[in-house]
Amino acid sequence: MRVLAIESSCDESAVAVLDAERGLLAHELWSQIDLHRLYGGVVPELASRDHVRRLLPLVSAALHAAHTDAAQINGIAYTAGPGLAGALLSGAALAQSLAFGWGVPIVGVHHLEGHLLAPLLEAAAPKFPHVALLVSGGHTMLIDVRQIGHYVLLGETRDDAAGECFDKTAKLLGLPYPGGPQLAQLAARGRAGVHKLPRPMLDQPGFEFSFSGLKTAVMLLVRNRQLTEQERADVARAVQDAIVATLCAKSLSALEHTGYDTLVIAGGVGANEELRTRLSGQAAARGARVYYPRAEFCTDNAAMIAIAGLLRLQAGERWDERIQVWARWPLTELSWPV
Ligand code: KG4
Ligand code: ZN
Repeated sequence: MRVLAIESSCDESAVAVLDAERGLLAHELWSQIDLHRLYGGVVPELASRDHVRRLLPLVSAALHAAHTDAAQINGIAYTAGPGLAGALLSGAALAQSLAFGWGVPIVGVHHLEGHLLAPLLEAAAPKFPHVALLVSGGHTMLIDVRQIGHYVLLGETRDDAAGECFDKTAKLLGLPYPGGPQLAQLAARGRAGVHKLPRPMLDQPGFEFSFSGLKTAVMLLVRNRQLTEQERADVARAVQDAIVATLCAKSLSALEHTGYDTLVIAGGVGANEELRTRLSGQAAARGARVYYPRAEFCTDNAAMIAIAGLLRLQAGERWDERIQVWARWPLTELSWPV
């Protein structure tokens, strides 16, 4: 089976072609970051219009790169939620049109399931069950992944997501949107231990997170001050250390709680090198192994939608021809097979 997948939940337009036997044949991505940078965040209406402009050319580019013509595509997958309703609709409408025109089955994919299954695109894939740390711009969750499609939420953030905390503190340090990757770069030049920022919820049992206090602490630290380059780097280092330490501690206790020996890091913040390195080291010391997708498949992409869609299509799941999206869609509502 060969699947064409479309992702358009937020500010990335992406298309991928995945073959069940031959693996990933193509993945194309257009980032709208430059479009939204001026506004310091994603403007939903601009995002939708840009998806409409970009998606069809990306489909052509992906088919071309995959040396595939439409007749060789046996299924379509698209992101059906959660995300920005208008942005999702742009992808859903195109996906349904292609499925109708090509006469092939279609499935809607949950964006977060895409993130969770992205490690299956790699040669060394995690086994089930496992614990997943899902850290993106909108979510911070620890999940007991019993099986594909069976997700039990262990805990999530009470307020800001980890990526949001990276982005907001990056903004306080004068870095352009989205600041996460740039804050990480700046942190690499920072000195450890110069500032001790709060490690939220670490003193409490359970698997909940809270990052809004960390953002406030940074605001108080930098307010009305002209920081030198080294001072900015030291603050960035303190922020990254606090976020990473919190994520590591809670992830390890989730492993202990479940008794599993496999941990998956998924979502945009999973691209953070410090998080990957520290979590891998700490898990290994306890006999557990950490899996994560390559960095480009941590942030939003269509390859992850393709793998989730392919697995669901292979299991017999089929959606009808309605153009359906859900801005909100709890991951725990998913089932398998449908
Ligand atoms: O999964 P994603 O691409 O989009 C959402 O579904 O939210 O995640 C984007 C988030 C942003 O907050 C971005 O700043 C953060 O992931 N991010 C990083 C890194 N790369 C992306 N945060 C820290 N370090 C990175 N290297
Ligand atoms: Zn995402």
